[in-house]
Amino acid sequence: MIKTANYQLDESIETLLIASDLHSHIRGLQAFEREYDKISGSKQLIFNGDLFYGGPYPVECAQWIIERAGPYMTLGNHDEGMLKQADDISDAYGEKGAFERLSQPQRDHFSNLPLRLELQWRGKKIVCQHGHLLPDGSDGNWMATPMEQVQHYQHEKEDLVCLGHTHYPFIQKSVNKFIANSGSLCMPFYKIIAGHQTHYQKGQAEWGEEVDLRCSFLIVCIEKNELVVQLKRFDVDREAMLEDLKDIEDPWINVHRGCIKEGVVIMPEVVQ
Ligand SMILES: [Fe+2]
Ligand SMILES: [Fe+2]
Repeated sequence: MIKTANYQLDESIETLLIASDLHSHIRGLQAFEREYDKISGSKQLIFNGDLFYGGPYPVECAQWIIERAGPYMTLGNHDEGMLKQADDISDAYGEKGAFERLSQPQRDHFSNLPLRLELQWRGKKIVCQHGHLLPDGSDGNWMATPMEQVQHYQHEKEDLVCLGHTHYPFIQKSVNKFIANSGSLCMPFYKIIAGHQTHYQKGQAEWGEEVDLRCSFLIVCIEKNELVVQLKRFDVDREAMLEDLKDIEDPWINVHRGCIKEGVVIMPEVVQ
């Protein structure tokens, strides 16, 4: 079993906001903050991994999320990468660059985070994992379709399983539980192009009508003793996000432009 933390959430909390994959984009955080502030009553943010790698504001994003989520956070693959200083592709937004800019207390906060959160709240059990690792510690796939993710987690005993990592949101409700993916606070992924191969995150071989470039998170509450899980979509200033990356002379700007403006990831080795 992977590193796990168990918490009993305060019974007075009325609403949980579960979000992931901010990737240090301040534009995503600013837009999310507006949504966060709209939710009245007692609320608790849970951040489900990948705070780092992408945008040039790792410190500001970390500070805001830590202040609100506290211990209710999981490590994503890029947060583990930050702790290992694994990637120095860009001082401005890479994992190593983020590590160097964080304060020691901020680094310590991430060092202490689990890969899996098990929460009890008002009689319900909720598990959060970013999704880059499966419960047994084997690798999860960032291109896993919703159906594949559901297959991996359908044996969990919890009432709600929350995932991230794929940047493709969904909520699946079966008889006795929800399995949901919060999508991303900065950019959803719909299509991955690698050479002549095209992969659709939703698991179907055509775009369909479902392309929605808005970001997303989960809102969870309890009504009449039943969990209610909703996907909340919101828009982000994508032009400003691109400008942020131009300002730091992002070496992967062509890849990131496709992600931000179209939800399409073109694997770097085939970018002209
Ligand atoms: Fe991510
Ligand atoms: Fe991830």
